[in-house]
Amino acid sequence: MRRPIIIANWKMNGSREKNTSFLEHFLTAVNAETCDIVICPPLPYLSQIQQSIEITAINLGSQNVCQYPEGAYTGETSATMLADLGCQYCLIGHSERRLIFNESDKSIADKFLLLKKNNITPVLCVGETLQQRENNETEQVVLSQIDSVIHSVGINNFIDSVIAYEPVWSIGTGLTATPEQAQSVHLAIRNHLKTHNSQTASGTRIVYGGSVKPENAADLFSQPDIDGGLIGGASLKAESFAEICNVLS
Ligand code: G3H
Repeated sequence: MRRPIIIANWKMNGSREKNTSFLEHFLTAVNAETCDIVICPPLPYLSQIQQSIEITAINLGSQNVCQYPEGAYTGETSATMLADLGCQYCLIGHSERRLIFNESDKSIADKFLLLKKNNITPVLCVGETLQQRENNETEQVVLSQIDSVIHSVGINNFIDSVIAYEPVWSIGTGLTATPEQAQSVHLAIRNHLKTHNSQTASGTRIVYGGSVKPENAADLFSQPDIDGGLIGGASLKAESFAEICNVLS
């Protein structure tokens, strides 16, 4: 039985004041008993959020990590530092990082391994562009993004990680994949993981991201291979994020 997980990716949004107000409202509105909930604020706010959630069941996540362990990498943050700050999860390979910051499969795999070494759960984001979907390349693209990590880190290191399937065309656009479209890709991912290791396939949580809102969350999360969500825009408002989490209660 996989425990559902809902992850808030605040991207580059927030302020100390907004974060305080968010948590005040969110913590009173959410039922955190039936799923894992993770908040990924921008890096400068990790400590603020960590202090506010430490006596709750909410988990802390980072939106990014450096692919190198330590040293002369100006402006970067290591996996060891994230662990020191109390992060339990970290997003890697988000399409905004792949497309805007030119992240390669190799650097994503290096990040994955450093997170595992520091006992932080990697949330590996994968997804196809609109053009790739129209060319019927969705599965090929998504599975090769996953395989490039598995081949580099080994299947044993992949156990207990989370995969986030996020069609690039649905991120921040209001165009959500239908529950059937999303389920079909999630099933393809799970079937593919079986070819590596059946235990990893049944245990890996695969979440959906891309314009998830309170109105469509229940239909998406009721699909057999969708184990929760990675939420962008709708995670910025305490009420809507709590409503999405409470779909699973
Ligand atoms: O990480 C979150 C995703 O990019 C989804 O963003 O919910 O604003 O479409 P969105």
